[in-house]
Amino acid sequence: MRTVELFCGAGGMSRGLIDAGFDVVQAYDAWPVAVENYRRNIGPHVRQADLSDLLSIIPEIARLEPDLICGGPPCQDYSLAGVRQEGARASLTVAFAIIVAAVRPAWFIMENVTQAAKSSAWLEARSILKKAGYGLSESKLNASYYQTAQSRRRLFVCGRLGERDGFLQSAIAGAASARPMTLRDLFGQSVPEGINFPTRMPDRRSVWGAGEPAPTIRCSLDRPIPSTYVPHPNDAALIENGFVFSRPVRNSRGVRSVDEPFPTVTRTSWERPAPKYLGNPHPDDPVPAGTTARLTREQASRIQGFPGDWQWIATAQRDILQMIANAVPAPLAKAIGEVILMRERGETAPAIEGRFLDWLCQTGCRRATARNVKANVGRARRLLGGRTFADVAVEIAALEAVNEFAALSKGTKSDLRQALRLLHQFEEAKRSKSRRPRAVPSQAPEHETEQFAKAA
Ligand SMILES: C[S@@+](CC[C@H](N)C(=O)[O-])C[C@H]1O[C@@H](n2cnc3c(N)ncnc32)[C@H](O)[C@@H]1O
Repeated sequence: MRTVELFCGAGGMSRGLIDAGFDVVQAYDAWPVAVENYRRNIGPHVRQADLSDLLSIIPEIARLEPDLICGGPPCQDYSLAGVRQEGARASLTVAFAIIVAAVRPAWFIMENVTQAAKSSAWLEARSILKKAGYGLSESKLNASYYQTAQSRRRLFVCGRLGERDGFLQSAIAGAASARPMTLRDLFGQSVPEGINFPTRMPDRRSVWGAGEPAPTIRCSLDRPIPSTYVPHPNDAALIENGFVFSRPVRNSRGVRSVDEPFPTVTRTSWERPAPKYLGNPHPDDPVPAGTTARLTREQASRIQGFPGDWQWIATAQRDILQMIANAVPAPLAKAIGEVILMRERGETAPAIEGRFLDWLCQTGCRRATARNVKANVGRARRLLGGRTFADVAVEIAALEAVNEFAALSKGTKSDLRQALRLLHQFEEAKRSKSRRPRAVPSQAPEHETEQFAKAA
């Protein structure tokens, strides 16, 4: 698929999509440092551009005739870490939607922080994309279930022209692994037991264990743990090591076991061990005070899914951490890309969401008949190559155009059409919170039962 990436940053999303088999033909970002890193690590098909300049960018992208446009518009206006006030950066989410609606690729992928789902910018963008004819699948994904050792939660919206909303949801959920990826999975045994991911949020912990995914990587990783940091009860180092550091008063011991009382709490009890203490620890300390480690930049980059040979270039370390923190983890982008390619090739079909069988039975359908109707929907969808259509008349017309469908008996064709109509009615009823369908047969015709007994 010919792909154009907007707001490409250093190239996390491009890296993943290329790994999945996409042909990224052009990428854009306004930040020269990100463009330079993209060029060095991904390729020359990138240029600096202000994507709010719609009049010049839309004709240029239209000429590229992409099959897919992807991008993660800036998220600072929504992000938990930033001030939540929608402004110029949030309007770039709308700019993304306008570019997609104007260029009309068959597919798009948009990534953002989960809070964006409730923003007025996304509501506006959503309405533009719906009016342009896109079916949308909106998923909040935890990257640690997609080959990334980080429990980063992000909103992914996948759109395809003409589809029904939710068309890719089951396939994306199906691509998730059974358990989250841990730091030990990524780094092997060399990883320290407790790793420091400094946070400024009082309800978040800072120390994470090697046997779990890292928290969301942010550009604040190079900050030391603030002196005001209060150990979170779940701090992995505490649990895994069984020891906690308490800034010693006078010459007392700094390291305490969790099986003994905490010493008198003072204003400075929570501070991390200072270099002076680490250089001259108390002789009775049961374990070294510095058993928690700080991440290196390379480790942060790998946790964010960048390959080990990625070359970061910037004069300021802050810029590198910003690019790492901004990125879509490449393995997550790869997983989504693979789901899209499989659907594009007709290798998967959407699962039926909700209690379709129950709904059919509530309308008087026998259970066996309801099962046949459901199987008919699956069969029709497979014949359609996994495609769904917002309009049931268009869906049935598309089915009629499939050669394999044309070869079926008259009765079977009628069953498949009827199954698709019933599913649309069910989804309509779900949407309007009504449980009453407009027309459902109380008994299936004989041929339908036979046909789908065979199919089952
Ligand atoms: C969240 S980051 C995207 C990261 C990227 N998806 C990745 O995987 O590495 C958002 C990017 O938008 C870029 N940006 C901000 N304003 C822009 C604008 N007006 N035009 C183009 N890019 C812009 C920023 O420089 C930043 O690199």
